[in-house]
Amino acid sequence: METITVINGSPKGKKSISLKFVEYLQKKHPQTDFRHFHVAQDIRLYARGADAWNPLKEALGASQGVLWVFPVYVFQAPASLMRFMELIAPMGAAKAFSGLYTACLSTSIHFYDNFAHDQMRGTLEDLGMSCLAPFQADQDDFFKPQAMEALEYFFEDFLQAARDKRPVQRKFAPLTFPDLKYQPSEPTAPVSSGKKVAIVAETEAGGNIGPMVERLAKAFGGKVDIVDLQKLTIRGACLGCMKCAFDNQCTYGDKDDIKRIYETILDPADIIVYAGPVVNRFFPARMKLFVERRFMRTHYPFMKGKQVALLVAGPLCQCHTLYDTFEADVQVSEAHFAGAVSDEYPDSASLDRAIDTLARQLASGAEACYLPPDNFFGVAGRKMFRDEVWGRYRFVFQADHRYYSLRGFYDFPQKDWRMRLRNFWNMLRLRIPRLRRQVRNTMPGFMVKPFVDKLNKL
Ligand SMILES: Cc1cc2nc3c(=O)[nH]c(=O)nc-3n(C[C@H](O)[C@H](O)[C@H](O)COP(=O)(O)O)c2cc1C
Repeated sequence: METITVINGSPKGKKSISLKFVEYLQKKHPQTDFRHFHVAQDIRLYARGADAWNPLKEALGASQGVLWVFPVYVFQAPASLMRFMELIAPMGAAKAFSGLYTACLSTSIHFYDNFAHDQMRGTLEDLGMSCLAPFQADQDDFFKPQAMEALEYFFEDFLQAARDKRPVQRKFAPLTFPDLKYQPSEPTAPVSSGKKVAIVAETEAGGNIGPMVERLAKAFGGKVDIVDLQKLTIRGACLGCMKCAFDNQCTYGDKDDIKRIYETILDPADIIVYAGPVVNRFFPARMKLFVERRFMRTHYPFMKGKQVALLVAGPLCQCHTLYDTFEADVQVSEAHFAGAVSDEYPDSASLDRAIDTLARQLASGAEACYLPPDNFFGVAGRKMFRDEVWGRYRFVFQADHRYYSLRGFYDFPQKDWRMRLRNFWNMLRLRIPRLRRQVRNTMPGFMVKPFVDKLNKL
């Protein structure tokens, strides 16, 4: 009999949809021993001390493989699962994971589930695990026979890989951390701007991030709201309870500081900078928690029109997921992602200049209300939200539906009657062979004509 450790990263514990996919596998594989650990729901237990980890370590010792099962929560794995990953080394459990075969199984609506998997995979590879390709399901795949056949294949292949001790290629190279000991100087010409600046900072891990945050605040002339996540009262991560879906009221309400910070500091800000060290190829779990809890705003573009950037201590250039997650989040939110500054500079003076430049760019972007066209992240992300809120989740996300209806978010091409008529008419015309040949031969000139016409009028 084979033993598989199942690490459930859903805050909903046994009520997790993702876990149902594992329970399906259990029914199909009665001879396999599945040992479940609801680490996200029980995160307080795992944070309490190393003893709490003994049952898990014991299960890992008896296991041929580890399945990580989680939902995607705001572009990444849930904050509580990230916290669990942070605790592995300090609680002396890293050795128990190292060398084991592993794979991730997620459910989501596929909204940037690739980011969540890249972060998880990189972290598992850093733990020395042999990480196989993931299974990334839509929740509704559970009811699709073809998808469930694929799930069975995935699991059997996973067992076979562990039995055969199959060689597994890493997807991500090990990280090299920058070794700069940052010693900031005083800025000579701070930016003078009437714009409101907020820096959300996670500085617990020490290192360069504290001095970097201070330096950035000074570069803005000191008129900055610094939200120090360590000083906030936070009751917990998002529970996935979806109480917010109807009317944007979070179950935590005013019981902790998060709602107040969003309403009084982030909403009025023109510029937001998220600052923290790289931990497990992302920001620390507490920053993820802070970002995740804004799910009370469900799918509104909550950063609309703002200038947003990152300040990072650590190997940002090797952690594309960290950069891309914020770029995508900001774009979907109809805001401008102005980039990032990390401490990957050879000396403090160069980093000083980079921070000054960031402050100037953010301030001038805010003055100009700069909002360049989005790339695939923003365009595709908004289309997904539009379709999902209009479609299968409208009855749940009623607040989003009201917002989207009122602001013309439902810009489906089906409603564009002019475009539909034009297509109909032109497709009819192009059935005439002579016309078809003519258009084919003159296509590039035909397509560029309106652009040339506009240029000629300038
Ligand atoms: C707070 C929250 C954030 C979410 N964020 C995302 C997301 O960024 N991308 C996505 O595809 N799905 C997202 N979802 C949908 C969940 O991933 C999906 O409902 C999942 O199946 C829930 O699994 P679980 O029941 O195992 O927790 C989110 C759901 C919640 C509650």
